[in-house]
Order: sequence, then C-alpha cells, then structure tokens
Amino acid sequence: MKSVRKAVIPAAGLGTRVLPASKAMPKEMLPIVDKPAIQYIVEEAVAAGITDILIITNRGKGIIEDHFDHNIELEQRLAAAGRDQVLADLQRVNSMANITFIRQKETKGLGHAVACARSFVGDEPFAVLYGDDVIIGDDPACGQLCRAWEEYGHGVVGIKEVTREQIQKYCSLAVSPLRDNLYHVTDMIEKPSPDRILSLFSILGRCVLPPSIFDILDQTPPGAGGEIQLTDAMCVLAQSEGMTGVDFTGTRYDMGNKLGILQATCEVALKHPEVGTDFAAYLKELVKTL
Ligand code: UTP
Repeated sequence: MKSVRKAVIPAAGLGTRVLPASKAMPKEMLPIVDKPAIQYIVEEAVAAGITDILIITNRGKGIIEDHFDHNIELEQRLAAAGRDQVLADLQRVNSMANITFIRQKETKGLGHAVACARSFVGDEPFAVLYGDDVIIGDDPACGQLCRAWEEYGHGVVGIKEVTREQIQKYCSLAVSPLRDNLYHVTDMIEKPSPDRILSLFSILGRCVLPPSIFDILDQTPPGAGGEIQLTDAMCVLAQSEGMTGVDFTGTRYDMGNKLGILQATCEVALKHPEVGTDFAAYLKELVKTL
C-alpha cells in the first residue's frame, strides 16, 4: 500500500457566493485573522505528512503563487530591522512543502479541476483539500483520512452529518458503520430530492483518492450545474469498490460563504495569542448591545 505524500488543492472556482469580495481577490486568499485561508489548508496538509502540493489556480489567481513565493525585498527589510520572528514565519510559508501550480483553463467544475492534476499525481494515491474549506483541529483532518487509506485501501471521504435542509444542497451518502468514526460508503447522490436522501452524511472538503479516479473523470459527463462533478466520479468508485468515510474531528469553516467567513474569523480570533484577549473583551461589550 503506497502512503499518501501528494495533495491537490483546487482553488480555481469563481467564488460567486462571496462576490464582490472575490471579484479581484481569490476567496482562497481571504484572511482569517492574519493568514489567508489557503495557508491554513497547506499547513493542515503538511501536518498530515504531505510533502508535495499542487494548487490549481486560474486567471487572476496569481496572488496565490506570490503568497507561497519569496518576497526578497520584504525579507531583507525585516532582517535589517531585526524582526526575526516575523521573518521566520514568513520564510516558513515558502519552505514548508514543494508547492507547484497549474491553471485550470476553463472553470468546468471541481472534477475537471482535479483532472488537471493527472501528471502531477502519476501512479500514487493523493489527497484533495478543497481550497475554500478550512478545517481546524488538533489532529489534521487530512491525516485522519490518510490513516483510513492505509488501513482499508479504499478511496476515503471526509464526512459530517448535516441537516435535512442542507443535504438537499450537498451530496448524500449510503453508509454502514465500520468502527468508531469510520464508515463504509457504497453509494452517493448529489443534491438529492427529499425522497432520494440516502443518509444525512455528506462529503465535506477532503478526500483521498486512488489514481484510478482519473480514468473515471475522463468518462464523467457534466452533471449538476453543467459542471464536471468530482462527486459523480467518486460515486462510480463507491459503487464499484466502496469507499471509506471518516467523520473527522475538527471544525470546518466554509470560506465560500459569507457566514462561514465570519465564523472562522471570530473563532480563530478568540484563540489567537496576540489579539484573543482583547477581541474577547470587545465581543463581550458588543453582545450587550445586541
Ligand atoms: P465550489 O463549488 O465551492 O466553488 O468549489 P465555486 O465554484 O468557486 O463556488 P461558487 O458557487 O461560485 O461560490 C469547491 C472548491 O473547488 C474549486 C473552488 O475554488 C473551491 O475551492 N473549484 C471549483 C475549482 O478549482 N474549479 C472549478 O471549476 C470549480
């Protein structure tokens, strides 16, 4: 069983739910306190043992590449000013993994974006971390999925139970329990009508896939919204060989929606070593006025 050392972060979506913020600024670069969302995602992958990361971008997302590159002038300025800690934090961003970029030339859906990673992935299993889903927790969610891959040898999806209203906008999974927070996944359906809901478990933000997914993606026609859906390809995997679902620990923030951005900002700020105490004091005063 090959272990997972590569990850793909699709970040080429148009982000229409957070316009106009995402018009010129990719939603993956929106800050949560003092780091862009995509940095939390890269850090999660690195903490899970991933060494090689491909970020899928498109026109107008060059700023993501700049973020993970050196800024020589800034580094020299910080060094000259003796701001060693800030400099070390900045340099860590450029050096924590081998990060490469590829452009998805047309925004044809998440499945199409992942298909762009074929030559990077080669013949290895790989993790997919959706570029607008930040998951914060002591045990990196990506690592929890990689362990399930090593244990069961099937593709793995990160899953959570959602409400009946939400499941109709997400995808619904047919699951049977394996042990603890692990499930066997045998089927899935995208945006089910109420009579076709398989369970309230949905895929949220993370998966580990075998390289065979690329042949399946090549055969996957456009689905919901006219886009090539990763879920449709994973459905073929689930029905043919089964997948493993990990009801991961950690809090997930949807940076593709306005409320998710606000929740991430508030909760991360409250725990932040530099501003946490002052922010908590400010919030306590603010809630009195609500
Ligand atoms: P979403 O469907 O949440 O992103 O895709 P979106 O299309 O940007 O969203 P809205 O509906 O317009 O607001 C999940 C992840 O997949 C990436 C997105 O950047 C996001 O991180 N994605 C999506 C791509 O890389 N390419 C695509 O064609 C679509």
